[in-house]
Order: sequence, then C-alpha cells, then structure tokens
Amino acid sequence: MSERLVVIGSQWGDEGKGKITDFFACHADMVVRYQGGNNAGHTVVFDGHKYSLQSIPSGIFNPATVNVMGNGMVVNPESVIAELEKLHVQGITDYQLKISDRAAVVMPYHAALDGAYESLKGGKLIGTTKKGIGPAYADKYSRIGIRMGDLLDPEYFAERLRDALEIKNRELKMLGLEEFDFDTIYNRYMELAEKLAPMICDTSDLINKYLHEDKKILFEGAQGMMLCIDHGTYPFVTSSTPSSASVPVGAGIAPHWIDTVVGVAKAYCTRVGEGPFPTELHDERATEIRERGHEYGTVTGRPRRIGWFDAVVARYVGRLAGITNWALMLFDVLSGLDKVSICVGYECEGEVLQSPPSTISRLAKCKPVLIELDGWKEDITDIHDFDSLPENAKAYVRKIEEVTGIPVGIISVGPDRKQTIIIDEKLKKF
Ligand code: GDP
Ligand code: IMO
Ligand code: MG
Repeated sequence: MSERLVVIGSQWGDEGKGKITDFFACHADMVVRYQGGNNAGHTVVFDGHKYSLQSIPSGIFNPATVNVMGNGMVVNPESVIAELEKLHVQGITDYQLKISDRAAVVMPYHAALDGAYESLKGGKLIGTTKKGIGPAYADKYSRIGIRMGDLLDPEYFAERLRDALEIKNRELKMLGLEEFDFDTIYNRYMELAEKLAPMICDTSDLINKYLHEDKKILFEGAQGMMLCIDHGTYPFVTSSTPSSASVPVGAGIAPHWIDTVVGVAKAYCTRVGEGPFPTELHDERATEIRERGHEYGTVTGRPRRIGWFDAVVARYVGRLAGITNWALMLFDVLSGLDKVSICVGYECEGEVLQSPPSTISRLAKCKPVLIELDGWKEDITDIHDFDSLPENAKAYVRKIEEVTGIPVGIISVGPDRKQTIIIDEKLKKF
C-alpha cells in the first residue's frame, strides 16, 4: 500500500470528500489541499459534532496531523482567520496548519469582480460562489497576483498592491463599481498577515521531507472533476483543476509520488450552480433524494440539483485522474426507492456517446441511456460490512464496478466517520 492517497471529487463537487479525508486523516501524518479556495465546503461529522471547512484541510481535527494549504490554492486570509475562529468556538484548538508562501491571495476586489461578471452575464450566469475564485486565479495567470509570502514583506506587498490596484481600479470603474482604497486594504492585510505569519512557509519543502521519510500523506481535492477548468463542463466550471494530475503542481512534488487515487462519488449525482447535467431528475424522486440527503449547499445554502449516477462521467474522470477505487457516498440515501437507475451512455443526435462531448451545446442535447435496477427498502445506516448489505444494494455496487471498470473501495452509509465500510483491503492499511 502506498503511503500517499489522493482524494478527489469525481462528479460536480460535494461528493463527501471532507468525510473521506477526515476518515483517513485519523492515521495520516499530513493532509494537503492543492487547489481551489473557500469556494469549497467540506463537512466532517464525528462524536455527535458537525464541522464545515472551506479552505482549511479536513485533517485539522487530528492534532498529530500537519495540515497544508498548498501553493496551488487561492487563499483568502480573512476567510482562513474566520474559519479558525469558528473552529476555536467549536473546541478545536490543538492543530497544525501551514500555508504555502507561494499560494495566491484572494483580495477584496476579486469578490467584487466575481459578482460583477456574473451579473453582466444576464441569464447565462455560471452560478459561482462569488468568493472571487475565478478573478484570483485570473490575476495569478496574468502575473498581477499577490502571493502569501508577499504579505511577509510589507514594502514589497505595498508595491505589488499598488501595481495591482492600478489595473483593478480601472477595471472596476469601467464596470461602474466602486474603486478600492490602497490604505484600507494594505492596513487590513497587514493585520491579517501578522496573525498568519507563523503558518506561512515553503510547504513544498515540508511535504517533500515527509515524502522522503515515508510518512502517510493525504492530498485532499476540492470541487469535482466535472468542474475542472480543462476537462469539466466549460464554461460552467470552477477555475482550477481538481484532478490528481494537479497534485504535483499544486503541492510542489514530483508526479511519480502519485499512485493511489480515491474518486469520491455519490451513489447518485448532484450539481449546484448552472450548466448541463444529463442525468438530472425533475420529478418527485429528485425532491425525495434532496430531502433525504439534505442536499443543500454548505457554502451558499442553494438546493442541489439531483440526478442518477452517471457512468459516462465516471469512466471519463476515471481515465483522466487515474482513479484506483471509488468511495461510494450517501449510499443510505437511495434506500426506500423502488427502482434505481445508472446512466451508461449518452444518446445524442442519433449516436450513443461513451464519453462527454467537449461543448455544452452538444452536452445539453445528450439524453441518458439508463439501466434500471431493483431498489432496496432496508435502512443501511448501521451496517459495517459489505456482506450485510441487502442483496439489491450489493447488486447496485457490483453494477457500478462493472459499468465503470473501477472497483468500489469504500461505501459510506451515513455522514458520521463511523458509518464507513472499507471493502478494499489495501485501503484498510492506510
Ligand atoms: P464535500 O464538499 O465533497 O466534502 O461534500 P459536502 O460536505 O459539501 O457534502 C456532502 C454532504 O453529505 C455533507 O452534508 C456530509 O455530511 C454528507 N454525507 C457524507 N457522506 C454521507 C453518507 O454516506 N450519507 C449521508 N446521508 N450523508 C453523507
Ligand atoms: P466542494 O469542494 C460544489 C461550483 C459553483 C459554480 C462553479 C464555479 O465543496 O465540492 P466558483 O465559485 O468556483 O467560481 O464557482 O463551481 N462550485 C462547487 N460546487 N462544490 C464545490 O466545492 C464547489 N466549488 C465551486 O457552484 O457552479
Ligand atoms: Mg462541498
């Protein structure tokens, strides 16, 4: 068994990555977030308490685990401090957190621009979280971004901020928005930097030391593969690459370290925000699943759209990210349905597609080719081993393995850490 495990979302986000990361983090030496920012909302439940994390890694509950916010992230210092304060109130005070000096900083003007771009799109909005994620990544790639390490050098930070505002304020003015004042941002960010300074360091160096010492390291993805800027349902995507393929760049390690990839997937599908969703359900079954699975966004509270498990998506992301096992989540939510369906192909303009088309105009025309299986009535939330599951539930799992070509390694039957069935012997050893 590898000492490294990558946990990624394999649908449209909110698959249960927080739960799986926390589960393994109980034995991990390090948990690393390598992309995204506080657009994520990862839920962790144990000992009767529920926690919600946005940018802080889900290993934060184990005092022995070093949590790293990698260079591939976009970090909002205001949000990190607020998250830490919330954790303190919830009694989480003993933790280890490091933030990459090379991570991009989310600035107040990024959120303003995110909202403005959305409102200018009229009916074609993406439905972003309005946290400024897209504009922060755009500035990084335009080379006018500010990085966490810059905050440790007040003079250099002042220069970078002045240069950025020179451009950003013109853009804001053009869009009819209020301009940002240098002193206000500078003073606030210097206050935040003072609090975060002890955590800011060269995290790639730290991660590589752990790798060479054969320590157990988890890489925690945010969002999901279908929200990937390259491979997702563009333009209805986020602005980073949630794939295992982005771990080396976003954490600062060599690619050969990555071998075991757990693709976290709901036993059905959800999507929050706009964009095509081929297996979407519009009838009472969607309402039933939404209510049973409490399918409302952790970050924005928006109701999540519901659809059947999509094996076209699963096969596609499996090959893109080298998924070695599925973690099949919210399996308990399907109990009680008479019939459950799985999408095995897309019918599009007289053809059956085995892989999603690149344009959303074509994807919007795709109709799911569904296979239907018998459901099960039993409550499975207290089951701890695969063999004790109802026969029809086992058949559903085996069918998912068959149509995706990837084994199911974990089944989750409830939000709590304990409601987790590990099937794959190799994963038991991590
Ligand atoms: P993430 O963004 O991938 O970490 O997922 P979220 O936390 O946004 O959404 C997953 C939701 O499902 C959370 O409310 C979890 O507590 C919950 N959850 C996770 N696994 C299970 C499960 O097996 N059964 C049920 N009923 N809820 C689960
Ligand atoms: P976790 O990590 C679900 C979606 C937004 C929107 C699109 C772009 O909790 O799975 P952005 O603010 O990133 O520019 O929004 O991506 N989105 C998510 N949906 N889970 C997430 O994170 C998401 N992060 C972004 O709803 O459709
Ligand atoms: Mg989430």
